[in-house]
Amino acid sequence: MPAPLRVAVLISGRGSNLQALIAAQHEGALPIEIVLVASNRATAEGLRHAEAAGIATLALDPAGMPDRARYDAELFRRIADHAPDLIVLAGFMRVLDAAVLAPWAGRIINIHPSLLPKYPGLQTHRRALEAGDALHGASVHFVTAELDGGPVLACSELAVLPGDDAEQLAARLLPREHALLCRCVHWIAEGRAQLRGNIVHFDGTPLSEALRV
Ligand code: GAR
Repeated sequence: MPAPLRVAVLISGRGSNLQALIAAQHEGALPIEIVLVASNRATAEGLRHAEAAGIATLALDPAGMPDRARYDAELFRRIADHAPDLIVLAGFMRVLDAAVLAPWAGRIINIHPSLLPKYPGLQTHRRALEAGDALHGASVHFVTAELDGGPVLACSELAVLPGDDAEQLAARLLPREHALLCRCVHWIAEGRAQLRGNIVHFDGTPLSEALRV
C-alpha cells in the first residue's frame, strides 16, 4: 500500500473542516496523515481538536512579525519542517504572499464557501442572498496568489430556500463543505486530481469545469 499523503492543515478558528478530515482519517476512509495543524490564532478552537487527536500544532501570531511577507515566510518555513505533501487551507482567514505560495503550486488547496468564481472574499452567504441566487455552495480550489481565484477542482451546490438568512445558509452548507473537502483530499491522495500548469486534471484528463460533489 502506498504511504499516506502527508497533510498540513491551516486554520483560523472553529476547525470543523479539520475535524471532518481527522474523523475520515481515523475511520480509515482517507489515506492521509495529518502531520501538522497550524493557526495564526493561538485561541483557535481547531487547535484543541488537533491536540486531542495527538497531532502536532503550531500557533504563530502575526502580531510579533514586522510584515506579512516575513510572517508568511516564517509560517511556511515551519510548515516545511513537517514535510507535507499537501497543504489544506480550512478556514484560514489570511491572504498569503505570492512568494511563499510559488514553491507549493499544485500542492495547496483551499475550501471557500461560495460557488467560485462567485463571491471571493468574505460574507459569501449574505452576498448570495442579496443577489437573489437560487443556488449557493462551496468550492475547493488550488491556491494561487489571486484571492480565492485559483483553478477549481470541485464544488458542492446547495439550494437557497425561501426565508433563508446568512446563518441558516451557512449552517446547511457546512456538512456539504466537510464532504466536499474530504472527497477532494481523497482524490489528491489517490493521485486522481492534479494541477498541471494552471489546469486541473482528473484521471489524466483536463477538466473543462469543476466537478460536482
Ligand atoms: C468554512 O466555512 C470555510 O469554507 C470558510 O471558513 C469556514 C471555516 O469553518 N473559509 C473561508 O471563508 C475562506 N475564504 P471551520 O473552521 O469550521 O472549518
